Amino acid sequence: GSVHVGVDIGGTKVLAAEVSPAGEVLRTAHRSTPGRRVELELVEDALTEAVTEVAAGRPVAGVGLAAAGFVDAAGERVMFAPHLPWRGEPTLSRLSERWGTRVALDNDANCAALAELELGAARGVDSALLITLGTGIGGAVVLDGRVVRGRNGMAGEFGHMQVVPGGLPCECGLTGCWEQYSSGNALVAFVRARVETEEYAGCALDELAAGDPLKITGPAVTAAAARGDALALAAYESVGSWLGVGMAGLVAAFDPELLVVGGGVSTAGDLLLGPARTALEASLVGRHHRDVPRIVTTAFGAEAGVVGASILARRLTSSPGRDQ
Ligand code: BGC
Ligand code: NA
Ligand code: ZN
Repeated sequence: GSVHVGVDIGGTKVLAAEVSPAGEVLRTAHRSTPGRRVELELVEDALTEAVTEVAAGRPVAGVGLAAAGFVDAAGERVMFAPHLPWRGEPTLSRLSERWGTRVALDNDANCAALAELELGAARGVDSALLITLGTGIGGAVVLDGRVVRGRNGMAGEFGHMQVVPGGLPCECGLTGCWEQYSSGNALVAFVRARVETEEYAGCALDELAAGDPLKITGPAVTAAAARGDALALAAYESVGSWLGVGMAGLVAAFDPELLVVGGGVSTAGDLLLGPARTALEASLVGRHHRDVPRIVTTAFGAEAGVVGASILARRLTSSPGRDQ
């Protein structure tokens, strides 16, 4: 038979998958994201390869795209993406023509929130905020059991809230954005800036870098933290604390029941969530007079975005009023 394919297009990786209606990931294909200053065609080629690999010769009934960028209200274009080359091109129609199939598009974190709402950590929850820590920070606002999209479709861009006026430059063009202090990139930047200092001489990450801090990757920091490496733990303490500071602002604004944290950085569990909880409680207005929301990690881990994209793909052929 035919297959629905979900694709998550992040700042560094493309993940395509076939996912069962119950959320089980059956087959995946990986590509690296060509970069943010490349021709758009290169990104579309990577997506095409990944979709073709997952389809494995079967006809494609529909494709859902979870894109790391600002998707318009109609779900047809990525208007802007700090880490990718999209600038408002008609992505939906370009790809559905190229692939000869129906395509749906939403922001990657919105897709992750959809997966968690329907099948994961936010099932049955009325109000939640989803925060993913990858290349940047992805965000989604769930109110009344639905993902809120906003006037432009761009609600939930938490990563670009300014937390430090005049702070670190961000790929979006502004400075001091939250994702410069709490994300996969921030975790790695923290380590790269300190790995050659005397304080951390001889630590596991120093040996791994072998004189070249650029060799340090996010997964390496996460693995080192799990083994108790002092520099990796300091990086998690910093990224976790900044996570909690930002959360306090979001909780003050939305008063949600649940905070769901995802992305590669969150696989460290309490190494991240511990400092985040402490900072959230320290920075949250009225904390002695309210319930502080629970913080949990995504049920689908790093696959939340692609699972949500698959839900979008299935909806293309199952929603009432659409021909099969
Ligand atoms: C982008 C978001 C995206 C997030 C995570 C941010 O920099 O602005 O659209 O959801 O990164 O990929
Ligand atoms: Na979002
Ligand atoms: Zn920014």
